[in-house]
Amino acid sequence: MSTQTISKRLTPLTGIYRPEGDKSLSHRALLFAALAEGKSTIRRFLIGGVTKAMLQCLADLGVAWELDEATHTLVVHGVGLKGFKSPAAPLYCGNSATTFRLLAGAIAGAGIACTLDGSEGLRKRPMGRIVEPLSILGAEIEDNHGCAPLVFKPATMGSVNYVLPVASAQVKSCLILAALSGNSPSAIIEPGPSRDHTERMLASMGARVKSFSEGYGVVILPQECPLRPLDIELAGDISSAAFLMVAATLVPGSDFRLERVGVNPTRTGIIDALRAMGAKITLENEGLMAGEPIADIRVQSATLTGTSIEGDLVVRMIDEFPAFMIAAAMATGETRVRDAAELRTKESDRIAMMTAQLKAVGVDMDETPDGFVIRGTGRIPGGAMVKAHGDHRVAMSMALAGLVAETPVTIEGFEMLNESFPDFPKVLEL
Ligand code: S3P
Repeated sequence: MSTQTISKRLTPLTGIYRPEGDKSLSHRALLFAALAEGKSTIRRFLIGGVTKAMLQCLADLGVAWELDEATHTLVVHGVGLKGFKSPAAPLYCGNSATTFRLLAGAIAGAGIACTLDGSEGLRKRPMGRIVEPLSILGAEIEDNHGCAPLVFKPATMGSVNYVLPVASAQVKSCLILAALSGNSPSAIIEPGPSRDHTERMLASMGARVKSFSEGYGVVILPQECPLRPLDIELAGDISSAAFLMVAATLVPGSDFRLERVGVNPTRTGIIDALRAMGAKITLENEGLMAGEPIADIRVQSATLTGTSIEGDLVVRMIDEFPAFMIAAAMATGETRVRDAAELRTKESDRIAMMTAQLKAVGVDMDETPDGFVIRGTGRIPGGAMVKAHGDHRVAMSMALAGLVAETPVTIEGFEMLNESFPDFPKVLEL
């Protein structure tokens, strides 16, 4: 495990950075290309721990691909919805719940025998949320008290009408993929606006997947013809960009541009939240790339005041709370977050873990069952050793704390950032 000490940054953040390909889009493009028939080309594919897990699992399922690491260009030779070969050993998804849950849907749809497993951390995450609806669809799955490993037996898919108790793009995508191999239409209803990349990308490949015009939900028709291969360039990851938005907001004198970032409205909650606190964030050159909204994002430093976050906004910034907490600590006044109990089921219990790390560096805050309260003072004292707890976003958020704290912050497990944002130390010159 590596430790890294981070000291206050005295020079403003200036210049331009184009973030690596979006993590959610990279997972989807790779997996959906494998499920298509023919050769797909994916440019600006994210090469991180989580996507390497998906690449290895697909190789184990008999899918051929070639990755040019220098150009981040991935070529995938699709085998079709029913083309996976039953792997000899359990598939290892590492720390990646997206790999696990999306593959689970594809494997159920393919109807093969297969065991899905992952790291110790992944084994603690809730999988009952996919086992229950997949079983209604017709999958035969043995679980370990609602957790990994999951053992799939060969089965054929029927259909499902299912209301998700919690908004989750991973669960929704899992069910969409399985339902493509169903024998009649399925419908999935959600309590909030989870990211809709699956619906957009599959529709572009010829799937009949349609979002509700009111409320949140999707109807899936069985796929009668092969999915068309992809030839796309992926938008930059707004979840990685979010760390730089917070850094540029907090480091005085900064004026920083992020180029060609995905600004799908299901992902832009962090921009709304930071703006509500007084951040100076503007979108320029808005356009569409492979069916996804993109923009350049300009961030100028600003002083922040506390805010309140709840409801749909929580879903639209679900991965950004660790970074957001640093902004809230550096704001003046109280920030209160509600309706965010889902944060306890991420790579770590992000409410408990971030509260412990932030208290260690002198932030005045408390956790609540479904969120937290931060009493911002405009400063972080720092001067402590903190832990990433196996969570890439905790590692990067505590690095942000170090960048603005009065005395240095040391992070144990800093290398976790390689899961999703290998460029992080380079861009911030750490
Ligand atoms: C993701 C969905 C979210 C998010 C995760 C990526 C996806 O998880 O937290 O980082 O790519 O579908 P949930 O579906 O569990 O909310």
